[in-house]
Amino acid sequence: MDIKNLQQWMNNIKVTNLINADVEVVNNSPLVMMGKGRQGAVFQINNDICVKVFGNTEDCDREYYALSLGQQTALFPKLYGKGPLYIVMEIIRGVDLREYLQSQPLTQALSAKLIEMLITFKKIGYERIDHHKRQIYLQSDGSLKVIDVARTIWRDRVYPYPRKLLTSLGEENKAIFMAHVQEMAPELYAEWLHYIRMEEISREITALLLPQEPDKNKIKNLSNSLLTTADEKNYVNLLHGLVHKVFKEEWIKTMLARGVDPEAVMAEIDEHWDKLEQSFEQRHPVGEREYKGEVRFEGDRSSRGDRGRRGGKHFEGDRDRYSKGAKGGKGGKHYSGDRYDDRDRRDDKKGKNKNKKRH
Ligand SMILES: Nc1ncnc2c1ncn2[C@@H]1O[C@H](COP(=O)(O)OP(=O)(O)OP(=O)(O)O)[C@@H](O)[C@H]1O
Ligand SMILES: [Mg+2]
Repeated sequence: MDIKNLQQWMNNIKVTNLINADVEVVNNSPLVMMGKGRQGAVFQINNDICVKVFGNTEDCDREYYALSLGQQTALFPKLYGKGPLYIVMEIIRGVDLREYLQSQPLTQALSAKLIEMLITFKKIGYERIDHHKRQIYLQSDGSLKVIDVARTIWRDRVYPYPRKLLTSLGEENKAIFMAHVQEMAPELYAEWLHYIRMEEISREITALLLPQEPDKNKIKNLSNSLLTTADEKNYVNLLHGLVHKVFKEEWIKTMLARGVDPEAVMAEIDEHWDKLEQSFEQRHPVGEREYKGEVRFEGDRSSRGDRGRRGGKHFEGDRDRYSKGAKGGKGGKHYSGDRYDDRDRRDDKKGKNKNKKRH
């Protein structure tokens, strides 16, 4: 839309963002300001058209894009033009929901319109399916329009239910709205309720934890029992165990990236590790080791007795993490649960060898 003088007016309006406050406006144009917020100030151009002037181009681009997503619906102001720091759009008239609800009841019909609004948000691709009641306008024909939509898109964090809408309604209307949702969309109600409860529980836990002062001295003293490097013998064993773990993880990642069957990866790892272990034992016969006796290639096996033989026990989730897609894989094998892990298998094998030696 070609608006005479628009560029000149824009040159004469300066909007600056402030932290946590409405923008600062210097208006040397003849335009009258209709309102302002933290992102911009809105000026009337004529009876039907206004211009929102922003403090920064990102907010401007964001709001323009969000409004453009909704142009095929009846919910948003029509767009007429854009500059780096301004958007020309339709003036939205009517009464905003905050004012309306001060004197009027939240009827089921109005609740239905609000749910429809959220459905439209989702349909046109908004990430935040939510809106403050202040930015929702009731038209004289009973329909809704919304303004100020920049924050519905390009977000890092979104809530899974319309938190802002619900809280902005206030306790009483929130309860009424929820009752309407329960009646009209019971599954949606159950989901929202779930999130609301989770949030309540989280809030209670935080309230409980925040004032608690941990006894730092006590923790410091007690935490000594978790230290591991002082006991050299044990330290070597733990380090071996850690390195093995890393080795195994990297190996599995590499193999799965190459598309190898997880079962084959496990078998190959066993074989490879056994070879390394053998060569370690050859190069470092027990008698020549600095830490005589107990040091083994892979961690302390003193617990082998109870672990190796159990078969089908816990394997710390490695397979879950590395198995591709759905559980199961080839031949209906399950990598997620009841099979013993590679360590157990290797221990079993050793158990057998050991038994053989003993005979
Ligand atoms: N299209 C419009 N038609 C009529 N009035 C509008 C329109 N857009 C904005 N306004 C008025 O200007 C005010 C500020 O607009 P808006 O809420 O979009 O600014 P904002 O800085 O993005 O706000 P926020 O800080 O909440 O993000 C609104 O509260 C409303 O009164
Ligand atoms: Mg805004």
